[in-house]
Amino acid sequence: MINSKRLEKYGSWAVVTGASSGIGREISKELAQAKINSVLVGRNTGELEALSRELGTESGVECRVLSSDLADENSIGAIEKFTRNLDVGLLVASAGFGTSGGFMSNKIETELEMLSVNCRAVTALSWMFGRRFIERGRGGLVLVSSIVGFQGTPWASHYSATKAYIQVFAEGLARELKGTGVDLLAVAPGPTKTSFADRANTNLGQALTPGQVASETVRALGRRSSILPGFLSKLLVYSLAPLPRSARISIMGKVMRGMLVNPG
Ligand SMILES: NC(=O)c1ccc[n+]([C@@H]2O[C@H](COP(=O)([O-])OP(=O)(O)OC[C@H]3O[C@@H](n4cnc5c(N)ncnc54)[C@H](OP(=O)(O)O)[C@@H]3O)[C@@H](O)[C@H]2O)c1
Repeated sequence: MINSKRLEKYGSWAVVTGASSGIGREISKELAQAKINSVLVGRNTGELEALSRELGTESGVECRVLSSDLADENSIGAIEKFTRNLDVGLLVASAGFGTSGGFMSNKIETELEMLSVNCRAVTALSWMFGRRFIERGRGGLVLVSSIVGFQGTPWASHYSATKAYIQVFAEGLARELKGTGVDLLAVAPGPTKTSFADRANTNLGQALTPGQVASETVRALGRRSSILPGFLSKLLVYSLAPLPRSARISIMGKVMRGMLVNPG
């Protein structure tokens, strides 16, 4: 059961990127249960509109759909314009995707698109909403990293680097924001059953559900600055932590290779 009172500081509207699927979609549902309205951002307009109708019917909240490709630099300005007159107090930056396999064999266009969506857009949105939240004296930023971002991860070298960027950015920024009324939460999930694995061309073994990640995220908002949702994420990160970095890289490389659809 969500304690809506605790979430009141985030105002009546959230902006959720990646709301059309997986973790972002489930976080929108959790927020709706707490009576927070959402601006749902993604490219799949059909899915976003279906979610908007579902949340309206089931939780009575208002949703607005913004179809936007976050790889496009103009998307940030469009989000700013779309949300300017709403009482937004929470940004959930869940949109992202992964690539896998040998970096040198992958298409550079896809890698650069991933860099834009996973890093550039998250940085720009954090800056834009962060400043707005500081001005209103309260708010929250939720940034989604990954357990692969705690060390280099062969066979997902670039994806893991984008997630290391988010984790490190979030850890530093959370401290900078202390005393401003703005909370920052970095969420570092392990394998989670969403459409992520298909797009990344990987097979998941044991995996979390996006609902588990979403409920842990909303529970941690305002209380923690970084979480590892679920047992598996904690097990992987904490068991590797005491090892030398080179050993962690080797182990994560073996884990990732085992997940490749086309190991080559
Ligand atoms: N699933 C996992 O195992 C796992 C583990 C650790 C971290 N993560 C992270 O969790 C986050 C959410 O992923 P997920 O697992 O929920 O995967 P998902 O089900 O594939 O959802 C990804 C979301 O990102 C959006 N997105 C992707 N590219 C976009 C673009 N160019 N412009 C706008 N939106 C875009 C998608 O929306 P559209 O298709 O509508 O554009 C979709 O809503 C990602 O940042 C991912 O890196 C996932």
